[in-house]
Amino acid sequence: RRVLVLNGPNLNMLGVREPDKYGHLSLDEIVEQLENLADVYHVRLDHFQSNSEAELIERIHEAWKDGTDFILINPAAFTHTSVALRDALAAVRIPFIEIHISNVYQREPFRKHSYFSDLAQGVIAGLGPQGYLLGLQAAAELMK
Ligand code: DQA
Repeated sequence: RRVLVLNGPNLNMLGVREPDKYGHLSLDEIVEQLENLADVYHVRLDHFQSNSEAELIERIHEAWKDGTDFILINPAAFTHTSVALRDALAAVRIPFIEIHISNVYQREPFRKHSYFSDLAQGVIAGLGPQGYLLGLQAAAELMK
């Protein structure tokens, strides 16, 4: 089984970026924890972060070709803006979980709308970096 973790813009700055909202772990540290958990679940894990909408779309298309079974995506700011990224996920029809580190519902009104949530198998928000691990656990269960 193959899981792709996708992270959108500015998430390469985790650890440095607004730690009160996003915590102190770097993206590399989160990915390392995900890799350890993937081993436990006997899942193959791929990770891709990009600040570019086009690159994220291309990676989703690739996932369709490489037989990815499940996607965990934190679209970051594209959550609230990107019809194109939504359409890419709809096109490949790979089930996905939407993840947000912060509780987007506690923040500015423009963060309350997501272009992804109605297509997602589930949404995790506000539980910090641990949300990624919970997402992987759920994905492993859903792929059984
Ligand atoms: C985020 C929430 C988004 O509103 C924001 O633009 C991000 C990160 C989160 O993980 O909490 O970049 O997706």
